Amino acid sequence: MNTFYIKTYGCMMNVYDSNKIEDLLTNSGYLKSSNTQDADILIFYTCNVREKAVHKLLSDIGRLKTQNTKIIAVGGCIAQSEGRQLFSKIPVVNISFGPQTYHRLPQYIEEVLSGKRKRIIDGTFYKMDKFTECPKKINVNFSEHVAIQEGCDNYCTYCIVPYTRGREYSRPVKDILDEVKYLLDNGAEEIVLWGQNVNSYHGDAPYITIGQPKATWRIERLLQEVALLPGLRRLRYSTSHPKDFTLELMKVHAETPVLVPFTHIPVQSGSDKILKQMNRGYTATEYLAKLEKFREICPNIQFSSDFIVGFPGETDEDFRDTIRLAKRAKYTISFSFKYSPRSGTPAAKFPNQISEIVKEQRLAVLQKVLIEEQKKFNMSLVGKIQEVLFHKVGKHANQYIGKNVYNQSVVIKSKENMIGEFKNVLIKSAEENCVIGEIA
Ligand code: 5AD
Ligand code: SF4
Repeated sequence: MNTFYIKTYGCMMNVYDSNKIEDLLTNSGYLKSSNTQDADILIFYTCNVREKAVHKLLSDIGRLKTQNTKIIAVGGCIAQSEGRQLFSKIPVVNISFGPQTYHRLPQYIEEVLSGKRKRIIDGTFYKMDKFTECPKKINVNFSEHVAIQEGCDNYCTYCIVPYTRGREYSRPVKDILDEVKYLLDNGAEEIVLWGQNVNSYHGDAPYITIGQPKATWRIERLLQEVALLPGLRRLRYSTSHPKDFTLELMKVHAETPVLVPFTHIPVQSGSDKILKQMNRGYTATEYLAKLEKFREICPNIQFSSDFIVGFPGETDEDFRDTIRLAKRAKYTISFSFKYSPRSGTPAAKFPNQISEIVKEQRLAVLQKVLIEEQKKFNMSLVGKIQEVLFHKVGKHANQYIGKNVYNQSVVIKSKENMIGEFKNVLIKSAEENCVIGEIA
């Protein structure tokens, strides 16, 4: 029996895809290996949103390849954007498969193993097929991700996603509801609806009234219906675009107890000039007004965000606007990155690219502010009781780590195994990146 090892880079979408690849290969008779030494097949599921991705991949392949390796397959966004060039840049690669083609991987591995083909490349945008051809998950976890849409039509000028993941595509409602029901029936209690841009979801409705045009459901309706499914204790969704937060979606948050009062609403910059050049479709004032409205409709809502510093043309004044916004928005958690030019995106060719030193300085300043805000929020939870779903053990004996509704890490000590348990926890103290408590 041939064994495989998958190394996954990047976002949760890639983690989701890698889990599907694991199910597909297991179903086709391959055995998962937990180390590269024994693996016949090495799969690298890649990301190129930032950094020198190909360079890093090349060095990882060199490091992990052994005498036992029969096949090297590179999947995901690097495979998609590099095309045939990947074979000349990294000649040991046998299979290059884009993010929409992973359902074909068992067949491609078979063809290479049998000697029928030496090299295979597939960058087709199959869209539907990979969802319908994936087997049902065998080992269902207490928390599961379900992809509801993929790709993006927003074309932010810095972002490679629309070119690697393709145009926006929403899965039909029925397929999503069936998958969620199956996961809940088999032990899942938390569901995360997943995609590049979930709040622009518009999927075919499960029933069509004769004589009526084909109906679609938007994210608001989908969340309401998923929330009704028996067995569901916690519902999340990610990731989203600020422009798609409608008043209706805010109301759904307020009226749906199982839906967490927390959402990721990435702002990227606080400067109107930079936001325009990024093609984000909102000003800083409009963005902040949206957060305010959200808080008015759903008073316990909390937000997280992404930031990019050092976008081409960003002046000190623009950066100060970002700092101002970071302070005013009061995020529970934020992710911040140095702008990284992606070949093929418009911003890579913009004039006035910012030096690495300035990017680093700005990132350090911004992160300091964001951490201060994060700590303030963590402190505000001290003395409060939070419902926590525990998912892993900590570094110390009897230590367990879980997530509250705000996706914050909550650390406790317990002699009982807490993994997969929902517990009420009294928060006793706060650190920068977590809060510490005891079972209430
Ligand atoms: N450079 C830096 N950060 C980027 N992101 C996306 N593209 C780039 C880029 N070229 C960040 C954005 C996005 C997050 C997933 O990654 O902040 O929200
Ligand atoms: Fe990329 Fe998100 Fe912009 Fe789409 S909305 S182009 S995925 S940053």
